[in-house]
Formats: sequence, structure tokens, C-alpha cells
Amino acid sequence: MFEKLETLPPDPILGLATAFREDPSPAKVDLSVGVYRNRSGLTPLMEAVLSAERDLIAQQSTKSYLPPAGAPAFREEIFRLVLGDAAAGLRARSAVIQAPGGCGALRLGAELVHRASPGATVLLGDPTWPNHGPLLTGGGLTLARHPYYDASRHTVDLQPMLDALERTPAGTLVLLQASCHNPTGADPDEAQWRAILEVVARRSLVPFFDIAYQGLGDDLDRDAFAIREATRHVPEVIVAVSCSKSFGLYRERTGALLVVGDDAAHARAIESQANKAARAMYSMPPGHGALIAERILGDATLAATWRKELAGMAARLRSLREAFVAAVHAARPDVDIGWLARQRGMFSLLGLPAEAVRELRERHHVYMGLDSRVNIAGLSEDNVGRVAELVAPHLQ
Ligand code: LMR
Repeated sequence: MFEKLETLPPDPILGLATAFREDPSPAKVDLSVGVYRNRSGLTPLMEAVLSAERDLIAQQSTKSYLPPAGAPAFREEIFRLVLGDAAAGLRARSAVIQAPGGCGALRLGAELVHRASPGATVLLGDPTWPNHGPLLTGGGLTLARHPYYDASRHTVDLQPMLDALERTPAGTLVLLQASCHNPTGADPDEAQWRAILEVVARRSLVPFFDIAYQGLGDDLDRDAFAIREATRHVPEVIVAVSCSKSFGLYRERTGALLVVGDDAAHARAIESQANKAARAMYSMPPGHGALIAERILGDATLAATWRKELAGMAARLRSLREAFVAAVHAARPDVDIGWLARQRGMFSLLGLPAEAVRELRERHHVYMGLDSRVNIAGLSEDNVGRVAELVAPHLQ
């Protein structure tokens, strides 16, 4: 049966993390996979997570199944976290289904759309996270592209994106990253979001948001602005939520699919169909991470601790951006990469040629995506000067 199967190359992101782990050099620097790191290069357990997990283990009396749509309190808390002030008015016409991480939520969203509109087309930005395509086509959707990034100005390529949306048939999905764009770090500002959502609404397109970094850009509210704004202008909004980065729950596979529907009857239909799709893939989502997140969000003291830790992580990312810009400027006063400090979240594209990326990895043990995507959290107060000196000669 399997004799015709070929061995595939490693995943472009996860494969680099493996290569990094296997590199014995003490000088190695990992700017590849998007995980938060502290000054020692570790991805720490957040205090609030540790405390909630201890309470959970002390108090839980069963590992019996969760309900099909997941942990009830988690679903309510995550809905309020993402929708903020808009949540109360939208809940009755929304479906919330816990999912195995942001990936699980994206795939479940695609499966759900495919049940409503078989083979529907989804527009992805160019570029976008490389796993968006496989997750969405795996769920039965058809891909198309719209321009997103102006690599020479290091900003959102707004007008070409708006023009592409204008030409898109009604009912098409548009995958939008709510904040901390992966891989570019370039997010629309509020005026640009309004312009994008105006076209989305007028053309009857359906926004499918991916929010994987809420709180790691500016703050929890501003990072969810686009989603909340969309619910004011568009009748149906789909959101894939990840708790991996904002709670540091990566391996616990914690996330949710939120769907704002036209009315309460649609929301019930959506939830039942999503449950059925989930049942056919993995039956139900894992409990542990969601039960931790619901404890944090449902407890004022733990929630305050978590918010403070998250704000600290976001501030550190912003200050590492500043430090990298300054260190590059010291090495190459003729090059201005000030744009990198204006971008947000974990990622930016340095704009290096692939040979330079390979040389940095093979000769200097500095790992980044072949597209020169760097995870800013892989920089530290200790390595930022060395990385800047190594990268600077290759910058244009
Ligand atoms: C990344 O882009 O590095 C993260 O989202 C991790 C992943 O699964 O690719």
C-alpha cells in the first residue's frame, strides 16, 4: 500500500526548530519557530498558568469526556476575551466551539464552511503563514490570493489589496490576521482596517480572522480591534483563536472557533454542524489547556497576573525590536531599518536573499526562515549585537 509514498522534506518552520535542537554549537541562535523566549532563550511557563494548573490538578476529580463543543466556561471566557465590549450583544447569534489549538480552529472553520458552501474560495494574503493553505484546503476550500505586503516599504500594500477585494465575487472568504501578522509583522492601522472592512462589507465577502497573538502586539483590545470592528459592519464573521502564544500553552493545543451568525437559529445550526465535523476528525478537543485558561480568565487575581505578564512579554518584544534596529544602525549607519520597530508581534521579514539565510545558518548558527522571517523573541539582550553584526552586511 505505501510503496509509492515518497519521503517529504521537513516542514519549513518546524523542521528548522528540529535542526536547531540538533546543532551542538554554543553560539546558535534560534529565530525560527514562533514561540516566546525569555532572556535565557527559554519558553517559560507563565506564572498565572502555573498557578491555575496547580489548582486544577489539586481540585479535578475526573478525566471524563468534555461536552462536544468543549469546556463551557472556557468557551464563554474566550468569546468575551476576543469580542470585548461587543461580546454581550453578539452571544445569542454566535457559536463557540473549543478546538485543538489555532490550527484545529482554522481546519474546523474550513470544514464548517465546506458543509455550507462546498469548495468555497478563500483569499489568502501574499505572503501569509505557510500552514494556512494546507489547513484550509484540507477542509475542502479553494485558495486564491490577494496582495498584502509591500516589501520595499515594509508596510501593508493597501491599495492593491483593496483593488483585489473589489474584484472578488460575493460570498468569498477572506482570511485576515487580526494582529501581529505572520510572517511580515506589518498590520493595517485602524484607518486601514476600516477601509478593508468597508470593501468586505460592501462586496458581501466573509471575513475569516486568525487571531493567534492577542496581547503580544499593542494590547489585548487593540490587537482584537479588527474583529470587533468587523462585527459592526458584516453579518457573519468567523474567528480562529489560538491560546498557544498568549497563554504559553503551545503543546496543550488550546483554541476555539467563534462564528458570529445572522441570527440565533443560524448559530445553533453552525454549532451542531461544527460539532459533527469535529466528531468526524478528533471527536472532541483536549481539556487540559482550556481548563487552565478558563480558570485564569474567570478569576480576577489570576487574570490580572496573566494580563501583566502578557503585557510584559509584548513590551519586551517591542524593546527587542528597538534594540535590533539600533544595533543594525551601529553596524551599518547607511541602512535604516526603523520600519522593523514599527512592526508588531513576533515576526518580521528581513528581506535577505536565500543564500544569505543559508550562510547565516551554516557558518554562524543563526536560524531563520528561508524567506528571512525572524522570530524577534529569539533575540535577547545578550545576542542582539552579534546577530545585528552578522545580518547587517546582507541588508539592502
Ligand atoms: C510559527 O509560524 O512559527 C508558529 O505559528 C508555529 C507554527 O506552527 O508554525
